[in-house]
Amino acid sequence: MTDRSISPRQLPDEAALDAALRPKRLADMIGQDRLRENLEILLQAARQRGEPLDHVLFYGPPGLGKTTLAHVLANEMGVALKITAGPAIERAGDLAAILTNLHKGDILFIDEVHRLGRAVEEVLYPAMEDFALDIVVGKGPSARSIRLKLPRFTVIGATTRLALLTAPLRSRFGAIYRFDFYDQAALQEIVRRAAGLLQVRISDDGTAEIARRARGTPRVALRLLRRVRDYAQVRGDGVITAEVADQALRLMEIDHLGLDELDRRVLRLLIEKYDGGPVGLETIAAALSEDAGTIMDVVEPYLLQLGFLDRTPRGRMATRSAYEHLGVALPERLQAVPAQPSLFAGEGNG
Ligand SMILES: Nc1ncnc2c1ncn2[C@@H]1O[C@H](COP(=O)(O)OP(=O)(O)OP(=O)(O)O)[C@@H](O)[C@H]1O
Ligand SMILES: [Mg+2]
Repeated sequence: MTDRSISPRQLPDEAALDAALRPKRLADMIGQDRLRENLEILLQAARQRGEPLDHVLFYGPPGLGKTTLAHVLANEMGVALKITAGPAIERAGDLAAILTNLHKGDILFIDEVHRLGRAVEEVLYPAMEDFALDIVVGKGPSARSIRLKLPRFTVIGATTRLALLTAPLRSRFGAIYRFDFYDQAALQEIVRRAAGLLQVRISDDGTAEIARRARGTPRVALRLLRRVRDYAQVRGDGVITAEVADQALRLMEIDHLGLDELDRRVLRLLIEKYDGGPVGLETIAAALSEDAGTIMDVVEPYLLQLGFLDRTPRGRMATRSAYEHLGVALPERLQAVPAQPSLFAGEGNG
């Protein structure tokens, strides 16, 4: 976790506010239209059959609503949500304890599901597939395995790294959904709704300015809204206009595309030190003294979305748009390539 002002990771002080702003029903969720439609069908089918939901896996960059949607699904099904995370379940016994406390239909939300240990995963397989728990009693020659029946429950897994999930675990999820970055219209709606709930006075162009610089991420949009609100209160008359938002965000070193200092450091390193790449992720992380995971989860997805970065088998490369954004002269290899329209405007499935 980092304390970057626009890090999509959750900061502790946000927790309370988060609970208040979090949409409770599927119909209150803004954006992610295709995903929402899929989930509506999943929900309705389960309800009609009077069955618990199938196991669901959510993946995508941080701050896009994976945890929120797990809460929403539990609400919609009218069942209890039990929350845990891959690294929190250390031993197989810990998982067995959680599983034996579930009631029929309950949802077990496992965040960072790619970080479950081997032994724990092996307990989870039969639990998800057959709703059974195999436990070994006794030791040595008298040891024997007994099978406990579990109630039918639902696992919702969430991960930012689908590739790190083992194939057997992945195959136990009946539905796998990707979260995309939100488009401008959806982010504006999210900012507008939150401003209403927080009783912040904000103009339409102020809303648009914050949404534009929120790197497609609701969590970032909400955080920027709170920081800009502070700025408007201290330096202005409390009203957020486009101008006030721009001043506040400039002070936070967030540029007009939403890139912050770390994003620019990554691009500058690639361009100025490595002539545009290719450079391996570990090299980038080491050169910037940053955590490779942060760069991979937080920095890269948005730079890829903007078309500023290419991932090649030999490493990361800066694109023509990245040079242009930083105002650096193009190297020879890119001079022949025609300019591409920005991939961002109106992209994503919102
Ligand atoms: N569609 C949405 N509409 C309104 N607010 C949203 C939406 N999606 C997410 N949010 C808000 O954005 C914040 C981040 O969402 P959430 O915690 O669910 O993200 P996440 O995908 O679980 O992130 P992480 O990978 O870091 O766990 C929350 O405050 C949530 O209320
Ligand atoms: Mg989460």
